[in-house]
Amino acid sequence: MTQDELKALVGQAALQYVVPGEIVGVGTGSTVNKFIDALATMKDSIKGAVSSSNASTERLTALGIPVFDSNDVGELSVYIDGADEIDGKGFMIKGGGAALTREKIVAAQSRRFVCIADESKQVEVLGRFPVPVEVIPMATQRVVRQFAAMGGTARVRLKDGQPLVTDNGQHILDVTGLAIGQPLQFESEVNQWPGVVTVGVFAHQKAAVCLLGTAAGVRTLNF
Ligand code: 5RP
Repeated sequence: MTQDELKALVGQAALQYVVPGEIVGVGTGSTVNKFIDALATMKDSIKGAVSSSNASTERLTALGIPVFDSNDVGELSVYIDGADEIDGKGFMIKGGGAALTREKIVAAQSRRFVCIADESKQVEVLGRFPVPVEVIPMATQRVVRQFAAMGGTARVRLKDGQPLVTDNGQHILDVTGLAIGQPLQFESEVNQWPGVVTVGVFAHQKAAVCLLGTAAGVRTLNF
């Protein structure tokens, strides 16, 4: 199976976690796009979605799925999103699509995070994938120096030769050279550096379940 087929497989499998009559939290990315397409087949049995990015909102809306503002709804039963890396405890790196801040907000609003990923995303230790960090531009160089002191190399993510601007009007640093053995501590520490909006380590908002797409089918990992 191709990676794209594995993404479609887990996107479809995630439908079993959607609670009829409720609002579902929806992440961002190519795997989530497969989930959104599958969700459209049951749109009449859900109330709608809370979305984690403008891109997902556009896709949901185009398919006729109502999108609610996160401030207008209470706790969600489930949040479904992909990951760039996931370890054996359900800790993840996210933000390859630059939507990490809103993803963390919707994840925090949800009782259960269901991660959908193909098996290439499974790792022993987080950090091979560059850790995305959303920063307020004024703080960029200071945060770059703080990562250097930790042994990491942080680079501003570019789009068309210019710093990429997130849905929140901020920039993204991608940090290489870190092996994140203590994700909870790492997330807590980096999150309190002035100018950091969100670090793309999801340890406090980890996955409860991962639907992993493998050549043998969907493996369900419970954490
Ligand atoms: C976006 C994310 C995505 O979930 C992550 O990048 C995985 O994306 P894909 O499903 O395209 O591999 O965190 O900010």
